[in-house]
Amino acid sequence: MVKRTKIKQLLASAPGVEVLAKGWVRTKRGNKQIKFIALNDGSTINNIQVVADTAVIDEDTLRRVTTGASLAVRGQLVESVGSGQAVEIQASEIEVLGECDPMRFPLQKKDTTLEYLRSVAHMRLRTNTFGAVLRIRNAMAFAIHKFFNEKGFVYLHTPLITESDAEGAGDMFQVTTLDLKNIPLDKKGNVDFSKDFFGKKTSLTVSGQLEGELGATAVGEIYTFGPTFRAENSNTPRHLAEFWMIEPEMAFYDIVDDMELAEEFVKYLVQYALDNCMDDLRFLNDKYDDGLIERMQSVLGIPFQRVTYTEAVEILEKAIADGVKFEYPVHWGTDFQSEHERYLVEKYFRKPVILIDFPKDIKAFYMKQNEDGKTVAAMDCLVPGIGEIIGGSEREASLEKLEARIDELGMSRKNLEWYIDTRRYGSVPHSGFGLGFERLLLFVTGMSNIRDVIPFPRTPKNAEF
Ligand code: 4AD
Ligand code: MG
Repeated sequence: MVKRTKIKQLLASAPGVEVLAKGWVRTKRGNKQIKFIALNDGSTINNIQVVADTAVIDEDTLRRVTTGASLAVRGQLVESVGSGQAVEIQASEIEVLGECDPMRFPLQKKDTTLEYLRSVAHMRLRTNTFGAVLRIRNAMAFAIHKFFNEKGFVYLHTPLITESDAEGAGDMFQVTTLDLKNIPLDKKGNVDFSKDFFGKKTSLTVSGQLEGELGATAVGEIYTFGPTFRAENSNTPRHLAEFWMIEPEMAFYDIVDDMELAEEFVKYLVQYALDNCMDDLRFLNDKYDDGLIERMQSVLGIPFQRVTYTEAVEILEKAIADGVKFEYPVHWGTDFQSEHERYLVEKYFRKPVILIDFPKDIKAFYMKQNEDGKTVAAMDCLVPGIGEIIGGSEREASLEKLEARIDELGMSRKNLEWYIDTRRYGSVPHSGFGLGFERLLLFVTGMSNIRDVIPFPRTPKNAEF
C-alpha cells in the first residue's frame, strides 16, 4: 500500500512513482474529457494539480469534487506539461472523504476581503492567506525558541493567573469563582476576596516580567513565551486583548546589552523568515503588500538608529514647526502615539529606531532611574509600518530607589515583597524586554490588522470560537 505523502514533498519529488495525496480542493476546471483539480493540504501554499480523465474517474465522483471538499487521490506522479508546476498527479482513483456544498460554503471566490473573512474566522484558516500566516507564525515561534536555546537561556513558565499588575496600568481581567449574583461583602461593604478561589483578588497576567526577574536572578538568563491579557479598550489594528509575548530577562545586562540583544533578536527572526518561509512571503507580498520582502531585507544590513526620547521630541517638534500634521500633540513628558513613532522610523531615520531614556512618569515603577532624576533607562524598539514592537528596560537594582519609587507611585509594597526580595538578597544589575508576538507577525507578514495574524482574535466585544 502506498503511504500518503504531503504535497510539499510531492512537489519536490521526481516523477515516475505511485503516490497518495490527501487534501482539500481549491478549484476544479476542465472540460468533458478531463478535469484539473488544484489540491492543497496546508503543508505549503502551493497546490498540486490532479489530472482526472473522465474515462478513468467516474462522473458521480467528479461531480462531488467541489471547492472545499476533501479528497484522497491515488495516481502516478508525472511530469507536468502545463506551466506553473514541475509535477502533477495523473489520478487513478479519487475518494471524496468529505463533501462541501458549494452553495453554502462560506469561502466563495467572490468575497474574500479580510473584513469578510474575520466574520467567518472559524473557516478562514482554510484560505491561502491564513495558511501562509499560520505557517509563518509557526516558523517564528520555532525560531524564537531556537534563538534563545542557542544562547543558553532557560525557558521559564510564568503564571497566567496572578495578583500582581506588573505594568501598573490597571488593565486587567479579573479571575474569580465568586457568584456574581451574590457577592460576599466584608464589614466595610467591600468585596470579601478571602472567600474567592485563591483567597485574594486575582487577574490574568499582563506580563510575566516580574516572575521572569525571579528566574533571571537565579539562573542568569531566561525567557518567557506565553499568552498575555490586557483589558485596555483600544480598538486599533495593533491591539489585542489576548496576545502572545516573549520576555527575555538577563542578569548582568545593562541597557546597552539589552538593546543589542533586542536588535540581534529582531534581525535573527526576520532572517529566519526570509530563509524558511519564502513561498508564503512571496504570496503575501504579491497579494497584500508589495513592499514586504524589501522592507524585511532592509532592516538586516544596517544598525538600528539609537536616539533618546528627548532628541525624538525635538525632531517631532521641528517637524510640526515645518508643517507636518499629527493628530496628537507632542511635548516633553507625553507618550508617543503610533503616528509619531512611524514618522521617526519611516520619514526621518528610514530605519528601525531604538528610543531610550523616557520620562519616568510614563514608564513602569521597576525601571532603572537615571542620574538626571527625570528619566529612566527604558528602551522601545520601533520598526517601519508598525511602530513599537519591543518595550524593555534596565531594571532598578537598588533596594532603596525601588522602594522609594513604589511609595512615590502610591503602590502597595506589601503585595510586592516577593519581588523586592530580589533586591534584598544578591541584587544584580539586570535588564529585559518584551516582544509582542503579533506585532512581530505584522512585520513579517505585511498584514495590516493584528486580528489577521492570530487564529482567533480577542478584541473588545469579540471572543467568538
Ligand atoms: O511595552 P510593554 O507593555 O512592556 C511590558 O509588558 C514589559 N513587561 C516588557 C518587559 O520589559 N519584559 O509590552 C511589550 C510589547 C509591546 O512592545 C508590544 O509589542 C506588545 O508587547 N503589546 C501588545 N501587542 C498586542 N496587543 C496589545 N494590547 C499589546 N500591548 C503590548
Ligand atoms: Mg510599551
